[in-house]
Amino acid sequence: MSHTCLSFIYLLSAILFIFSIRGLASPETARRGNLLGMIGMAAAIAVTVYSPLVTEYAWILAAFLCGGLIGTWSTLKVKMTSLPQMIAAFNGLGGLSSVFIAAAEILAGTPTYLETSLGMLIGAVAFSGSVIAFAKLQGLMPARALVFPGQQLLNLLFGLSVIITCVWFITTGDRNLFYILAALSILLGFLLILPIGGADMPVVISVLNAYSGWAAVGIGFSLNNVLLIIVGSIVGASGAILSYIMVKAMNRSLLNVMLGGFGADNKNTQNESDGLKRTAKTGNPEDAAFIMENANKVIIVPGYGMAVAQAQHILKEMASDLVTKYGVEVKFAIHPVAGRMPGHMNVLLAEANVPYDDVFELEDINREFATADVAYVIGANDVTNPQAKTNPASPIYGMPILDVEKAKTVFFVKRSLATGYSGVENPLFYADNTIMLYGDAKKVTEEIVRALEK
Ligand code: TAP
Repeated sequence: MSHTCLSFIYLLSAILFIFSIRGLASPETARRGNLLGMIGMAAAIAVTVYSPLVTEYAWILAAFLCGGLIGTWSTLKVKMTSLPQMIAAFNGLGGLSSVFIAAAEILAGTPTYLETSLGMLIGAVAFSGSVIAFAKLQGLMPARALVFPGQQLLNLLFGLSVIITCVWFITTGDRNLFYILAALSILLGFLLILPIGGADMPVVISVLNAYSGWAAVGIGFSLNNVLLIIVGSIVGASGAILSYIMVKAMNRSLLNVMLGGFGADNKNTQNESDGLKRTAKTGNPEDAAFIMENANKVIIVPGYGMAVAQAQHILKEMASDLVTKYGVEVKFAIHPVAGRMPGHMNVLLAEANVPYDDVFELEDINREFATADVAYVIGANDVTNPQAKTNPASPIYGMPILDVEKAKTVFFVKRSLATGYSGVENPLFYADNTIMLYGDAKKVTEEIVRALEK
């Protein structure tokens, strides 16, 4: 295959990847985006394999089958709530492949020391950091922040030794230094992620995703492969933008997350409490059904607990019953960081075929709570917590929240009065217009649907 033909197909693949990312920005176009990405990747693999540089096919076939099997298995088996772990695993593998390619380049005597060592270094950090992120999210190790005295100093020393070894290797090209650099970078990745609490992992995973992209850029320069440079840049930039969007929506800074700000063990959480013992009103699904079928307008606020309970399908049924049998106006309100990953709630509601027109972002719906008869908060907590507006000492202070308390009646469907991700108590549970519906989100909603259909 001629070089021009190869470059042309690489260019086409790059364009397909850009349209793929564009498509993934909305649930309506996500399937098409995925398809474009698959076509782009298939084309890129095919032309690379057919290029004259490749002379040995057995290893490629073996890797292709292994990767294909793992990919197919994980798509079929991994639950939506375990997606963060899966992405961590994939980021780690991406970083590791950069390490291996860099090592192969060095063994082959390629003199692109700067690009190769940077690609390897970032890839190694992405790999070991992702191993810790995966282990914490999967419960293989304690999810809390693992901290010890002198940790920041140790990390600083490791960071400096990585930089010094990297510069030394670039200037001398000594292979032994390359191996030392690889070992130090892998250790640095472990050390950087250990002090971060499991709850902060979604942001960390997005950062590591960006790292694996930048590692591919370094390797792309070292291999002189344009497509790897373009795709690595897309992954690096989109990972960085996603991390920024997440921390901004949580009103935090990336530095705060990476230094283990909160969500670790909640010891530092400042709750606004007057020390009085308060009681929360409890209701049952039949009462909830009665109030909702007599309402004019119901706004549903889904959160992480809906995802855990996989209650989206029954929730859609409840909404349909309210609309069709009782003529109630039903809307869904989505907070930008509801759940544990961007777009988490949108994806689940789309999976249950909730019409896109019924789903509203925070800024478009917040004013409507004042005119709603019912706010049905299902498995959500932090995204409704008014402490974000009233308590400057709270870690969620400044985060925009859904003003559910303005509805005439607020139902909270959750199993207890426990706090959510941020560990901050929610005073709304004790408000006069709040009724707690204790139980698993799916079971409670099923009982409401049963009552509505009587
Ligand atoms: P949370 O504040 O974490 O609250 C979820 C609630 O769901 C919990 O209080 C829990 O209470 C309840 N729950 C769990 N399993 C349940 C089940 N099976 N049935 C019923 N309820 C269940 O969730 P949220 O309101 O969606 O807020 C998201 C939080 O995650 C925010 O603090 C956000 O900053 C953070 N975060 C989000 C992201 C992204 S990008 N989405 C990334 C990182 C962090 P019980 O235990 O009492 O049932």
